[in-house]
This record gives sequence, structure tokens and C-alpha cells, in this order.
Amino acid sequence: MNLDELNAIAKKMVAPGKGILAADESTGTIQKRFDKIGVENSEDNRRDYRELLFRTDTAMKQHIGGVILFDETIRQKAKDGTPLVKLITDAGSTPGIKVDKGAVPLAGAPNETITEGLDGLRGRFVEYHKLGARFAKWRGVYEIAEGNPSHDAIHANAHALARYAALAQENGIVPIVEPELLMDGDHTIARCEGVTEWILKEVFQELYYADVKLEGIILKPNMVVPGKKCPKQNSVEEVAERTIKVLKRCVPGAVPGIAFLSGGQSDEDATAHLSAMNALPSLPWALTFSYGRALQAAPQAAWSGKAENVAKAQAVFAHRALMNSLAATGKWTKDAEKKVA
Ligand code: 13P
Repeated sequence: MNLDELNAIAKKMVAPGKGILAADESTGTIQKRFDKIGVENSEDNRRDYRELLFRTDTAMKQHIGGVILFDETIRQKAKDGTPLVKLITDAGSTPGIKVDKGAVPLAGAPNETITEGLDGLRGRFVEYHKLGARFAKWRGVYEIAEGNPSHDAIHANAHALARYAALAQENGIVPIVEPELLMDGDHTIARCEGVTEWILKEVFQELYYADVKLEGIILKPNMVVPGKKCPKQNSVEEVAERTIKVLKRCVPGAVPGIAFLSGGQSDEDATAHLSAMNALPSLPWALTFSYGRALQAAPQAAWSGKAENVAKAQAVFAHRALMNSLAATGKWTKDAEKKVA
């Protein structure tokens, strides 16, 4: 492992004004997205859609420092035969790969999950590196409910994240470490804050035990927000302040970048929260986006599977990428948002 190289990759992914496009939906998850826009979930449609994104020049060159891919996509070619990975590197961005195999029920922990995918992972990293991946993603999932999350689930997922991260670094790949506390439920922002702190403390403890070098990771956390069904929805400023408070308590300054997931927030909320955080003083890490839905919902709707809509969808994607790029430097405004793409 060359830590300077890992650190350089991570820094490039989260360079000022840049963030990450999470386009790593599994075939099952993209099905849900395509169902919403009435598009058949075929290999060609998945290819056409992702090609559309990766050929959006302004967004890819100026605002997207890395793209997380699914196994199918990292092997796929554009319509003209160019590997999709090449479209990404030609734009100066970095290809990455989702390597976890999803969350399954955790034995002995009702309604909780453990993320699988460690068996054979070393060999998969060797192959993915050859295919062009320079970073990876693994997502642990936690939910707030009566009595949950349990210590068992928090510990088991942190341990898996750490084993994954150590294997990634061993193979010259920057691990995105993603512990996601879901927004589902009616819990308050205070409960989200407390549980997020617990999860992050455990994750960093396990990373230490696994000898993961913090200069060569990116953290992908949830923001501190109330549950979607909580009657009290807090202000943008409060979300920003509570999120930064927890991150400062838990995430050492050696970590080069924190790239948030959007987790079901509206496009504008995800952007506004990120911008408000970046407007706060003395942040020790780069703070940016690694959004799936909050970058893609709008272009997906604009495209709707029709070739004649490609240019419109690309303009919509470029707009969201620009808005989040502004947010990554604390400069987003509602006025900028209103300007039609
Ligand atoms: P969302 O931004 O849609 O939450 O997706 C990000 C992601 O990569 C989840 O693993």
C-alpha cells in the first residue's frame, strides 16, 4: 500500500467544488428508479442512461470528482464501443466501484441488517483495479426503532466496514466508508444525533483496530436530520450545526474528505444543508456530496427513456451538479437554484 497515492486519489475526488456521483444502483435498485419514469430495466437502457450522465461534459469535468459504479457498469461499453470507464477518466474524474453485496438480516438482531461481501473480496479488488477502479464503496445500514439500533448491529457493521477498508487499501483502492443511519421513522433530530455519534465512534474504533490509514479513506455519512415522519422538521441551520458538531467529535482531521449521502432528502434540502455546513468556520476536512438520488432524480425524470430528451436531461444533471458544487464551497443560494438549467 502506498499511502501517499491513496491520499492523492482521495484529495482529487473531493477537490474544491467537486463531489461524487453515486451511480452504483444495483439492478434491483435501478428497477425502482426506472419504474418511476416508466422505463424498462434492460441492460441497454441502463447503459444509455449512464452514458448520458457520463457524457455531460461540464458536470463531469468541473463538478464530479468521482463516480461510483455497479459491477455491470464498470464492464460496460458506450453505444460507440468506448468503455464507460474511459468516458469518466477522459473527463478527468475517477471511477469507483460498489463492492458490498447488500444488507441481509443480522442473526439474533430483529429488524437489523449486516452488509455482506467480504468473502473473496481481495480477489475482486485485484480485478476491479485492473478494470480502472481507484476507489470503492461499502454501505452499512442502520435504522432507528424501538430498542434499535442495537450494539450488536452497530459493532458488526463497523467491523465489516473496517475489514473492507483494510482490504481496499491493501490493493491501492481508496475505501469510501459508508455507515448510513436511515431517515425512516418519526424520531427527533436529537435521537439521530445521538445514534449517529455512537455509530461513528464505533466505526473509527474498528478502523483503528484494522490498521486502516485515515489519510486514505473518504467517509460517507448521513447528515443529522429528524426522521421523515417526525412532526418537527428542523431548520437548515440546525441540521448543519448538529451534523458538524457530531462530525467534529468523531472524525479525526486526518480524514481528507467527508462526502454525504442524500438518503431520501429532497434535491434542494440536500444542497442547502451541504452549503450551510460549508459556510461554518474551521472545518478540518473537505465536506462535499456523494449523492445518488439528489443528483439523479431530476435528470431521470427529464430523460424518461427517450432519446430526444437526452440533451434536456444532461442540462438538468449539469444544473444539479453545479448547485451541489456551489454547496461544496458554501456558496449556494436559492437564487442560483431558480436559474433554469
Ligand atoms: P443517496 O444519495 O440516494 O442516498 O445514495 C447514495 C448512496 O450511494 C447510497 O449508498
